[in-house]
Amino acid sequence: MIELINKTSAEIDGFTTNSKEELEQFRIKYLSKKGVIGELFSEFKTVDSSVKRECGQSLNKLKNAAQEKLNSLKEKLEDNKEFKSSYDDLTRPAEGVEFGSSHPITIVKNRIVEIFSKIGFTVSEGPEIEDDWHNFTALNLPKHHPARDMQDTFFVEQNPDLLLRTHTSSVQVRYMEKNEPPMRTISPGRVFRNEDISARAHCIFHQVEGLYIDENVSFADLKQTLLYFTKEMFGKSKIRLRPSYFPFTEPSAEIDIYWGLETEVDHKITKGTGWLEIGGCGMVDPNVLKNTNIDPEKYSGFAFGMGIERIAMLLYQIPDIRMFYENDIRFLKQFKSVL
Ligand code: DAH
Repeated sequence: MIELINKTSAEIDGFTTNSKEELEQFRIKYLSKKGVIGELFSEFKTVDSSVKRECGQSLNKLKNAAQEKLNSLKEKLEDNKEFKSSYDDLTRPAEGVEFGSSHPITIVKNRIVEIFSKIGFTVSEGPEIEDDWHNFTALNLPKHHPARDMQDTFFVEQNPDLLLRTHTSSVQVRYMEKNEPPMRTISPGRVFRNEDISARAHCIFHQVEGLYIDENVSFADLKQTLLYFTKEMFGKSKIRLRPSYFPFTEPSAEIDIYWGLETEVDHKITKGTGWLEIGGCGMVDPNVLKNTNIDPEKYSGFAFGMGIERIAMLLYQIPDIRMFYENDIRFLKQFKSVL
């Protein structure tokens, strides 16, 4: 008898399964009324009284071990979703599919691309690690030009000619080098500046550059293009171009849109003026055309550059630029577009 108990005990100890069916068979085999343990209990009635005590204890132990084994495997199978067959209940409603959402910067970038593509602008890209020529020199910013200080630069330590581009204007240089006028392109991308991080500034952000070169392109074309953009993007139909300075454009201007002064927020973000600056622009400097082998006697053009975070902050009323980079799922989930 003892031998049989020990043998059964070893079988139970060694048993394991990932299947509910096998576990049920285990229960029937050992724990049902006519199961192995039940049979042993029947036999137990007839054992010699000298070993009765020992047998009884072992038998009880065996029964408890089998019951424990059953319970623990049952629990494991229920906990473990992997083994929970999705075919168990065919009437069960399907689990909802969780849609992700696009990052607000992506949504705004895609919208900008969409707006400009309607009026014939292509999309172009360039490298984020740029050389001095494309980021500065070709843009009429020779070495030691004081305007280089406007953009605090991250240089590549091993090679002083390489840097992380400080603006997407570098892409217009590349585009002009490779293409013949007429050309109309926008270049969205990531840019880098060695700036202190705050609610309004970050060392990594995004810009979109615009470039239009053809015969007889005028400042009026620039203004109309920007007006079209602000109407489409913000639904605002008043802009002003404020004289400014950029080495790569002449004349140069700052783009302001009239945001209005209706709400308290309007007052706050426009500092009580109703006007908001969204970027820079101008007529491409003849030196930049020459640097990229385009004849300034024959062609003229305009360019503009805008910050994508700034536009997104305005559109979605986001108070702190750092929110774009924290990847807080509660923030990101609010942007439902899958564009
Ligand atoms: N590159 C300028 C900046 O990052 C923005 C800019 C201004 C771009 C005028 C242009 C432009 O193309 O014409 O501050």
